Amino acid sequence: MAENTLTITDNRTGSGYTVPIVDGAVRAMDLRQIRTGPEDFGLLAYDPAFMNTASTRSAITFIDGDKGILWYRGYPIEQLAEQSTFLEVAYLLFHGELPGARALEEWTWQITHHTWVHENVKKFMDGFHPDAHPMSMLISSVAALSTFYPDARVNRDPGHRELQIYRLIAKVPTLAAFAYRHSLGRPYVYPDNDLTYAGNLLNMLFKMTELKYKPDPALERAIDVLFILHADHEQNCSTNAMRSVGSSGVDPYSAVAAAAVALYGPLHGGANEAVLRMLRSIGSSAGIPEFIRQVKAGDAKLMGFGHRVYKNYDPRARIIKRIADEVFAATRPNPLLGIALELERIALQDDYFVTRKLYPNVDFYSGLIYEAIGFPVEMFPVLFAIPRTAGWLAQWQEMLGDPEQKIARPRQIYTGAARREFVPFGRRP
Ligand code: CMC
Repeated sequence: MAENTLTITDNRTGSGYTVPIVDGAVRAMDLRQIRTGPEDFGLLAYDPAFMNTASTRSAITFIDGDKGILWYRGYPIEQLAEQSTFLEVAYLLFHGELPGARALEEWTWQITHHTWVHENVKKFMDGFHPDAHPMSMLISSVAALSTFYPDARVNRDPGHRELQIYRLIAKVPTLAAFAYRHSLGRPYVYPDNDLTYAGNLLNMLFKMTELKYKPDPALERAIDVLFILHADHEQNCSTNAMRSVGSSGVDPYSAVAAAAVALYGPLHGGANEAVLRMLRSIGSSAGIPEFIRQVKAGDAKLMGFGHRVYKNYDPRARIIKRIADEVFAATRPNPLLGIALELERIALQDDYFVTRKLYPNVDFYSGLIYEAIGFPVEMFPVLFAIPRTAGWLAQWQEMLGDPEQKIARPRQIYTGAARREFVPFGRRP
């Protein structure tokens, strides 16, 4: 018998089946042949929330959750965070290799020269209430970009697709900054092509009366590193949304908007906002034991802890903790940091968290840094969406080139009523 196979006995029928195992996986479609009779549809794999189902093959990002390892295209996240820039990493995600000098120059030029948006964008941005959540404004305006580039819906040419990729990576920061300025009632700031990707974002967010905005190098680098850490994270909730929605053939602006919607949720990109709210409600280190008691009783959740994949310290959290010191040296220390450090120390010694392998994730410290830089909590998921746009699009591009992918369409196990006759309105109980 071949070694890389799985033998299954169906005890309902006594029949035996042998299915191949490739890369540690069996194909769910190989289960379809297992039937009790000709009327039987065939055996399904039932996996709510995709706990043990690979939806794709991917060569972009590797995570070993038990060891706390994260690589982009084989490069450890620690080395990229230390030695690379966000735009270089974005190139790597798309192309599979780090760029040489000429490729990086071209890539940077393209992204820098697509940062401007149509003046009409300002008009619909103005239509939002001043207290509208900036993430909702970003989501709506990214979706609205598809109305400016309607050919993106029909043109499948790879060169044309690349143009949409440049546009999205370039324009999402502009939309994000416009949303932020709108919420403050401040005039929009146009992109400055002399600045880096992170430097220009700071310019569009924070420029006031100065003729030329000069970003603080420490904050510019901190944003760039945070962007590297958030650029991709394999098949998470929003990336799954990007692939699933993109599999219908919709344009990338609409698909990125859908992915951003998934990211908005408090269990995903909204978690760092929730962490700050949690730290504020704890108030001081003295409030930690009571808060831990509530978490263990199931009355609260320790936000920024736990991960579907990492059952060890999230490597991104470790890097972020380091950046926090550099940012606080350039700004003011965040008083919530002391509560966060103490909360982490206590949780990591507590049996509840130890046995469930709950460690700090990327969001536990990122909110503290964003707050120190001057962002309101509502901007946190927006700051996550900017770099993740590169990851979503790299995953989208990979999906479109994968001959095995089709429109995503899961099966269900029907649990509703059996067939019954319609009851006219007057005769219903
Ligand atoms: N606080 C308290 N208990 C927790 C937590 C938490 N943060 N996370 C998981 N648990 C418990 C959970 O109650 C369950 O306990 P039990 O076995 O007694 O029922 C056990 O740990 C396993 O948790 P789970 O809910 O089955 O794990 P999951 O893989 O479905 O959820 C998660 C992963 C990230 C949604 C969850 O850990 C969580 O809600 N964390 C807080 C939110 C958060 O920080 N999200 C950011 C994730 S990192 C950013 C990103 O990549 O999107």
